[in-house]
Amino acid sequence: MAKDVIIACDFPSADETIKFLDKLTRIRDEVVKCDDITVIPRPFVKIGMELYYAEGPKIVKTLKDRGHKVFLDLKLHDIPNTVKKTMQVLGEYGVDMVNLHAAGGIDMMVAAKAGLMLGSARLADKPKLIAVTQLTSTDEGTMHRELLIDRPLEEVVKQYALNAKEAGLDGVVCSAFEAAGIHEACGLDFLTVTPGIRLTKDGSDDQKRVMTPKEAREAGSDYIVVGRPITAAEKPSEAYAEVCSQFIGR
Ligand code: C5P
Repeated sequence: MAKDVIIACDFPSADETIKFLDKLTRIRDEVVKCDDITVIPRPFVKIGMELYYAEGPKIVKTLKDRGHKVFLDLKLHDIPNTVKKTMQVLGEYGVDMVNLHAAGGIDMMVAAKAGLMLGSARLADKPKLIAVTQLTSTDEGTMHRELLIDRPLEEVVKQYALNAKEAGLDGVVCSAFEAAGIHEACGLDFLTVTPGIRLTKDGSDDQKRVMTPKEAREAGSDYIVVGRPITAAEKPSEAYAEVCSQFIGR
């Protein structure tokens, strides 16, 4: 399974995003150490709600045209028909990965997949559809007290992952702490995309369950999503290099 680092580009504008990414591209080429640099893709990036709502679909096109793989993290959650139609639109953008909340249920996820496949019908590489299980900012106490879900967090996450698999999705967004259990329940081909990553020296910000890139690699994460440890670092290029070498370096 290809492992990669996805940079969460939680910036307010396209200008800031592009300025930031330009600095990182050179570093990636050095860390990944491929003989033929023309085949090295630019960093895999995640466009979240802040950037997407500020810039609209053109930010996706801009980053795709510049050679980035794009995970469009809009976490859809609505009635099946609305999600299907929306996914069809997102599929037409040519994104590489897109997501929704598994809490929307199996029917919603089936509809989402159908919409995404319709939208991306012309593409050879189909986008991956990933379900958010529980946000990594949610811990078991919050889930019990506020959401009134009284089962253990691990059990809830595993059931949401099984629901996503049954609906034909490609994987889930989850904490790296759950990656091994999800692979055990859903198979090694079922992708685990894990935010909540911190270099040891970082604080955890609002993330409640965190791991280092090295720990996430050992835990079996397929992709790690890393935002502030890179974007808010004093030296983002060095932080990105460190994250890459811990997670995908040789
Ligand atoms: O800055 P940080 O590394 O905490 O960023 C994590 C990114 O992953 C954010 O863009 C956040 O929206 C996203 N995310 C998350 N937890 C989830 C799903 C997505 O933190 N369960």
